[in-house]
Amino acid sequence: MTELEPKLIELHKKLEQHISEQKSNWKSFVYAQQMGFYQGFEEIKLPGCRPTEKRLDRYGIKNYFTSEKIALDIGCNCGFFVLHVSKFVKHVDGVEINPYLVNIGIDTQKFLDIKNVGFFPSRFEDYKPTRKYDIVFSLANDDTIDGNTEFTFNEYIEKIQGLLNEGGHLMWETISPDTYDPELFKPKRLVLEKRFRLLEEKMVKSEYPVNVPERRFLVFQNN
Ligand SMILES: C[S@@+](CC[C@H](N)C(=O)[O-])C[C@H]1O[C@@H](n2cnc3c(N)ncnc32)[C@H](O)[C@@H]1O
Repeated sequence: MTELEPKLIELHKKLEQHISEQKSNWKSFVYAQQMGFYQGFEEIKLPGCRPTEKRLDRYGIKNYFTSEKIALDIGCNCGFFVLHVSKFVKHVDGVEINPYLVNIGIDTQKFLDIKNVGFFPSRFEDYKPTRKYDIVFSLANDDTIDGNTEFTFNEYIEKIQGLLNEGGHLMWETISPDTYDPELFKPKRLVLEKRFRLLEEKMVKSEYPVNVPERRFLVFQNN
């Protein structure tokens, strides 16, 4: 294993401090608690359960990104996916209920000196942006096992549609129970396909949880 540079060691310590504060203070379920970080980020040599760069490659969606596009990641966790996507688009916002995870995103953003990202410590239910988006990511997020998603599925989709520009794209990764049980996903699929045009669907490798080695990934268009 290569040795980490001192500035990366310092950053890791800072980020681990947020994880430790989360452990003491966050009362809800914590994803990937044993591992430390739910999302990993190769760019800062930080391992996590879900490796960000590989994950984006597996989705195969970079063709939807342009330097004009503005994106939103709902329930962005520690924000590494947001920070990575920022390299391919004009701007990305991330909204996340857990302030300890948002602080991880903000410290990493400062470390990497990334300007085109906004992090919002808020429930998605309460999030009131002043702009609309070209791309919305709902990654393993439509019904969270921490019990913090208050929206019904219809409310969730309605809010997403209200935030998407006409012709905009919704990038969808299923929550783990929906991945293998098509019966569970069926009613959601009906709602999604009623409101959006399905452009792509594939199964993608996933490392977490270990009993779910693949997730369903879908791309929809708002038109
Ligand atoms: C299963 S994780 C998925 C994280 C991220 N989307 C990903 O796929 O890497 C669910 C995330 O949603 C957040 N969350 C739960 N309820 C939320 C809500 N009502 N509004 C915003 N974020 C929420 C959790 O704190 C957690 O970070």
